[in-house]
Amino acid sequence: MNSIGMFDMHNHILFGVDDGAKTIEDSLALIKVAYNDGIRGLVLTPHFHPKRGMAHYAEVVENFNELVDVVEERIPDMQLYLGREVYYRSDILETKGSFDKYLMSGTACMLVEFSTTVEENYIKNAVSNLLFEGYQPIVAHVERYACAVKNKKLVDELKSIGAYIQINADSVLGKTGFAVKQAVKYYLKNGLVDFISSDAHDLKTRKPELAAAYAYVAKKFGEDYAGLLFRENAIAMLNGEL
Ligand SMILES: [Fe+2]
Repeated sequence: MNSIGMFDMHNHILFGVDDGAKTIEDSLALIKVAYNDGIRGLVLTPHFHPKRGMAHYAEVVENFNELVDVVEERIPDMQLYLGREVYYRSDILETKGSFDKYLMSGTACMLVEFSTTVEENYIKNAVSNLLFEGYQPIVAHVERYACAVKNKKLVDELKSIGAYIQINADSVLGKTGFAVKQAVKYYLKNGLVDFISSDAHDLKTRKPELAAAYAYVAKKFGEDYAGLLFRENAIAMLNGEL
């Protein structure tokens, strides 16, 4: 494939529910940028995080449905899905009733994030706990955790426990520092990465753009791997096949 048709499975494009897009106009402006970059599928993943956004699920669904209606009309070949980026705390596992509010578009996958200063054992335990409870953890932007940059083999371990791994496009391109870029190279070279996503919040700092990172990965690691990381794995996840 080329970069037209990419899927971005981690971003803060859904308006009014976290520290990303504020209004529906913001969402639409971000979606247009994503479309022009070649993205055709977006899993919207608002924060469930004590400082970045804890919007009630009903509100998230309401805003999502409102956005879907407008996008279907204005950009009909952009597909939207609803997920969540969950800041991991063990009490999440004690949630009673529907777990949908934490999951990626009705699948068993959960995109989980941690503090940047998290300890290795904490991430490993979180992954094990989620798997034990029947959920499929996807570790969000693993390269942002200092422990996974210092000890790159942690990511081998997380994979072997059963986690999926997501990294941010900006980190692939070296925009978050040299040490992080080197770590990302290690993860990619060793086939540890499952998704590369924008984690876009706005049009200033982290835009919903993936094409430049796609070109880099395709050139250095091959078109097939790029196709998996920027499209096929996201589609497989949405189809419940991951
Ligand atoms: Fe995020």
